[in-house]
Amino acid sequence: MADGMFRLDGKVAVVTGGGQGIGEAICRRLAAGGAKVGVFDLNAANAERVATAIGGVPLVGDLTKEADLDRVFGEIVKSAGPVDVLVNNAGVASKPGRDVPIWESERADWEFVMNINVTGLVLCCKAVLPGMIARQYGRIVNIASIAGKEGNPKMAPYSASKAAVICLTKSLSKELIGKGDICVNSVAPAVIQTPILDQLNEEQVKMMLSKIPLGRTGKPDEVAALVHFLSSADCSFTTGFCFDISGGRATY
Ligand SMILES: NC(=O)c1ccc[n+]([C@@H]2O[C@H](COP(=O)([O-])OP(=O)(O)OC[C@H]3O[C@@H](n4cnc5c(N)ncnc54)[C@H](O)[C@@H]3O)[C@@H](O)[C@H]2O)c1
Repeated sequence: MADGMFRLDGKVAVVTGGGQGIGEAICRRLAAGGAKVGVFDLNAANAERVATAIGGVPLVGDLTKEADLDRVFGEIVKSAGPVDVLVNNAGVASKPGRDVPIWESERADWEFVMNINVTGLVLCCKAVLPGMIARQYGRIVNIASIAGKEGNPKMAPYSASKAAVICLTKSLSKELIGKGDICVNSVAPAVIQTPILDQLNEEQVKMMLSKIPLGRTGKPDEVAALVHFLSSADCSFTTGFCFDISGGRATY
């Protein structure tokens, strides 16, 4: 039942890539909203650190591996209950140092990014959707990027992967019509100050920053505030949409 205050009491949420950056801010925010949060990350120390801080459940694994997903989603259901909210936040910008033009890119550059940003995200959706459909309730929030709307130079694998995230959000939302109160939305941030920026060279980050009218990087907490609303029962009449959080860069 929506209470108008985005409360998440009694709800179970899983946040992929919850061990640092935007994912950590989302974990903290959803926990403060009342949810029991599964902090899913490849980095065990970070998953433990964040889960301990918020009274959540550390979920350590690689979201591109089905065996890890079976184990991790089994763990959260056993320790907290069925998943009501899935935030697909884990993502990579490029293989480290491989932000190059398409003609210099290698097949491995594409597969690395697509595997995590798209295939892994789909596998996580598949892990929770049967339960959401059976219980006729769920919220899925996919973290896309402004790059998926505009196509950043030297970031083609990333841009294409995030365009895929925006579009598969739309497809999934339509597939779920008539299956209960299940909303699926995406958000498209511009540059947010997190460790992901270390995967890009300084010039690339400067170029992205120069395009933000508000003239600064965004903060993980600012993304988390939007995700909080989209994770709650109060977001009940919007599904399939991509919400902008780009400091004025995208006004469409
Ligand atoms: N920071 C930005 O400027 C920005 C802008 C737009 C969109 N985004 C998107 O926001 C999301 C979070 O970005 P961030 O900046 O916080 O990134 P980050 O690099 O700081 O954190 C990503 C987290 O995902 C985890 N992860 C990576 N691969 C994984 C895997 N295979 N299995 C499980 N966990 C895995 C990492 O261990 C890490 O903790 C990403 O999808 C990113 O593309 C970020």
